[in-house]
Amino acid sequence: MKKKTDVKGGDMKDFACVILAAGEGTRMNSQTPKVLHTVYKKPLIGYILKALEELKIKKVITVCGYKSKQVAGYLGKKSLIVEQKRRLGTADALRQAEKKLAGFKGHILTLCADIPLIRSQTLNRLIALHRGSKASCTVLTSVLKNPTGYGRILRDDNNKVVKIIEEKDASLYEKVIEEINSGVYCFKAKDLFASLKEIKADNAKKEYYLTDIIEIFAKKELSISSFETEDTEEILGINSRFDLVEAHKIIRKRILARVIEGGVTIVDPETTHIDNNVEIGQDTVIEPFVRIEEDVKIGKKCRLGPFLRIRPHTVIADEVKLGNFVEVVRSTVDSGTKINHHTYIGDSRIGKKVNVGAGTITANYNGREKNTTIIKDNAFIGSGSILVAPVKIGKNAVTGANCTVVKGEVKDDTVVVGVPAKVLRKKKKQKQVSKSVKPRSRK
Ligand code: UD1
Ligand code: CA
Repeated sequence: MKKKTDVKGGDMKDFACVILAAGEGTRMNSQTPKVLHTVYKKPLIGYILKALEELKIKKVITVCGYKSKQVAGYLGKKSLIVEQKRRLGTADALRQAEKKLAGFKGHILTLCADIPLIRSQTLNRLIALHRGSKASCTVLTSVLKNPTGYGRILRDDNNKVVKIIEEKDASLYEKVIEEINSGVYCFKAKDLFASLKEIKADNAKKEYYLTDIIEIFAKKELSISSFETEDTEEILGINSRFDLVEAHKIIRKRILARVIEGGVTIVDPETTHIDNNVEIGQDTVIEPFVRIEEDVKIGKKCRLGPFLRIRPHTVIADEVKLGNFVEVVRSTVDSGTKINHHTYIGDSRIGKKVNVGAGTITANYNGREKNTTIIKDNAFIGSGSILVAPVKIGKNAVTGANCTVVKGEVKDDTVVVGVPAKVLRKKKKQKQVSKSVKPRSRK
């Protein structure tokens, strides 16, 4: 049977989102604001924006504080910005967003910017449950074997959430509670803003804790609902660089799982590194020690590695072989081409069924600018060739072993050799076997 919470969040016009991102992130020990620290080259807050985009929530407000210009610069048009001048706590941060929500009668999804692993599916289920239960607040919780550092969820005898207690204020008995606050909540806007100003800073950190809203709601007998996510990884809060290492591991696992589910064989996931924004076609096989960086597209039935690096802005077509100690960057490689050993391909456009010999280098940089190498279909690049860009190697052309082609063009069907490369001969056109002439049968 379908669970009630499997229902879609639905039309999001009645939902706004507030992201709390004003904190400095002292525990990161960094000049960079915490939410701009990256995992797989994407800032923590970038992951939150992506999840909200998937949810189709249009009205997004981010509370910035520490180095707010830098954070606002990253957010661009994706979010309205409000500034929290003094970091007085999460409740105070949320109050800064109130003026941007004047007259808003819907619900507010509130989340901290430092939980990059949160999935849009989970937020969707939280929203659906919140709508269904008609609660004033629905909090996303999780049960952790090690709940250290998180606010703990306190429930009454009827299992209703009545309070959240922060680690620093918790008694020994409260500290053993394993159900924690993820820092993600849905609120009825009206109830939230009516009670937010009642929160006091009477706690260990002398901050206005948003978590205190739960006790206030409970005392006012406003209904509080909760949704527990079983995926304990997704609520990981990033507070230190060790947490960043943990997040990196989890994202890495997610990316590899997506690639494998897409029909790709990864022989050794332990030594395979694939960034965000990589597409890989069905039945491609990735041997050990391969690194594929962001913005790379790879076709079907390719064989990649071992010991290979594919760098950004590269498109590899179907049935291409890229072997050991090969690096490819900002290039396209068309179908059936083989680049098997010790080769650097940069700023190149390589055609179909080209063979690139061992030790070939496209010398794309002259100390001032990068130049393009073009290699047309069926060309044969001899071992140790150096192609000094800008250079074009024609169809069916051959470069001899160890030759250096210095700028310009090698015409179609031409063999060049030497340093600098000179034309050795034109290739003879292959004789077409006439259909009327039968090959002689062997005796
Ligand atoms: C918070 C919750 C805790 C929860 C945990 C989940 C409170 C009081 N505690 O604790 O119950 O288990 O998240 O990860 O809410 N921020 C501001 N302005 C401020 C203070 C913080 O915008 O004045 C922002 C921070 O940038 C951060 C978020 O709020 O993105 C949470 O702050 P943080 O200090 O990390 O709270 P935690 O101690 O992790
Ligand atoms: Ca945190």
